[in-house]
Amino acid sequence: MKLTGIVLGVLCACVAFAAPANAQDDATEKAIEQYRKMLKADPWSNPGLLDADRGEQLWKTPRGPKNVSLEKCDLGKGPGVVDGAFAELPRYFADAKKVLDLEARLLWCMETLQGFDRAELVKNPHPSGGKPVKELGAIATYVAHKSSGMKFAPKLDTPQAKAVVALGEELFNRRSGPFDFSCASCHSTSGQRIRLQGLPHLSDPEEAKKVVGEWPGYRVSSSHVMTMQHRVFDCYWQMRMPRVELGTDATIAIIAYLSKTAEGGEISAPGLKR
Ligand code: HEC
Repeated sequence: MKLTGIVLGVLCACVAFAAPANAQDDATEKAIEQYRKMLKADPWSNPGLLDADRGEQLWKTPRGPKNVSLEKCDLGKGPGVVDGAFAELPRYFADAKKVLDLEARLLWCMETLQGFDRAELVKNPHPSGGKPVKELGAIATYVAHKSSGMKFAPKLDTPQAKAVVALGEELFNRRSGPFDFSCASCHSTSGQRIRLQGLPHLSDPEEAKKVVGEWPGYRVSSSHVMTMQHRVFDCYWQMRMPRVELGTDATIAIIAYLSKTAEGGEISAPGLKR
């Protein structure tokens, strides 16, 4: 779907849309690409790795009212298996009777194994600018990092899982909210951007493969790791939708759809983002 003049008019008050139509824009794209490459070339320049380390400690430390670690948490490959687990998520979990993405699964383990209060965990789960990612996000960063270099192969082939992916696709394309935007309004055209931020064409497998595996990612502009649940929350906020809760069916479905579209793409989490 193309952005119409009306939508553009509404947006111009706060953001400027542009497509890299001329040489100047191409040069800008290339310079940003070069900046990303330089950051990637030196892994020590990614502060997100500190959060992966913090997450590992949190995973291994007995915590919560039941004072147990997460080492019995089954991320799909058996209790305590972290290596390669993220590459196969989201997937259907028989114990929860649901398809869960990484963060929703961690939430489930923190609630059922460690005895944390779910309502407390989801109350204010995302960090504000300059503040470090919260504990759940740090653990997610650790787990995702343990699939770095692997290819996305989410286990989404059961009938239940297929229905969740279909719901995610539906939500991705569904226009709603005061701006009448869908995710597709900003993410279904190649080469589009808002100011300097590229807007990947997320329903195109080739483009999805390049970016989906970079989440959780360290976001330079807000100086913290942002998880995929936070990314979806933030984009829903950009649509001026009500605050979407971490781990709800809608967020899981969207993440399942994005992961399915990115199937075969390489995971390089934590990535480095603008
Ligand atoms: C008003 C435009 C807009 C809408 C609508 C929108 N997004 Fe975004 N999205 C952005 C912008 C801008 C960025 C890049 C932010 C940045 O660079 O900091 C982004 C980034 C992303 C990314 C990360 C891309 C990358 O480069 O790694 C994902 C994933 C994403 N959005 C998903 C969604 C989903 C899912 C929805 C619907 C729930 C959605 N977006 C709706 C503007 C939008």
